[in-house]
Amino acid sequence: MKLFAKEETVLNTDTANLPQHVAIIMDGNGRWAQQQGKLRTFGHKAGVDAVRASVSFARRHNIPALTLFAFSSENWKRPEEEVSVLMELFKLVLNSEVKKLHKNNVRLKVIGDLSAFDPSLVERIRKAENLTANNTALCLNIAANYGGRWDIVETTKRLQTQIDEGSLQLSDISETTFHQQTAFAHVPELDLLIRTGGEQRISNFLLWQCAYSELYFTDTLWPDFNEQTFSKAIESFQQRQRRFGKIAEQVQC
Ligand code: FPP
Repeated sequence: MKLFAKEETVLNTDTANLPQHVAIIMDGNGRWAQQQGKLRTFGHKAGVDAVRASVSFARRHNIPALTLFAFSSENWKRPEEEVSVLMELFKLVLNSEVKKLHKNNVRLKVIGDLSAFDPSLVERIRKAENLTANNTALCLNIAANYGGRWDIVETTKRLQTQIDEGSLQLSDISETTFHQQTAFAHVPELDLLIRTGGEQRISNFLLWQCAYSELYFTDTLWPDFNEQTFSKAIESFQQRQRRFGKIAEQVQC
């Protein structure tokens, strides 16, 4: 089935024990461009192909949820020119890809504080979300102006509002009820968090959600990330023993 990537590779990925939710910190666009003597923004444009390849891979391997960190709350501090190129890219990608996503039964959600975005961009986002709302094969979450701490603070405020309205008691708050109010309650627990670009940190990404995730760091710069590199990350995930606090003998089947 031809989806989004220009070339689809036949992969050895074991279809058993696939992660149900994969998130990616797409890092290294600027360095990729600079290595070629080009402007950093050239790297962001090249990064769009890696986004396509990742979505295609997740869709074809029936991974139910993919979350991509496109713009952090801290990215506003970058040079104005770079921020505006990123905003233009979001608009272009929304225009060019949404129909394809819809055709392939992919639901799109953009998660983050959208109040800081241009209203025309927010309108395009909402239209794309509404169009794809009932799609079931893959949920593609784009984290934009997102921060893990922001998510926790917003969740806390929502719970407080429910207490004020009388629909929730303080004693009802548990890890489960808290989780149900976070921005990622609509997708399975985060199984695998990938970061490209060589750094080994979380950078205020899915702080609540990564409690028991497997972490995978690769030196591959984001524009070079493709179906083969995604497959390697999945293979690494499949070789790990997830113990969730238990001892090895308790989790061996
Ligand atoms: C990090 O690389 C990348 C970003 C901040 C932006 C990611 C955006 C894209 C891949 C393009 C558009 C994506 C969508 C979903 C529409 P960096 O700039 O921090 O690289 P560096 O570490 O080499 O400086």
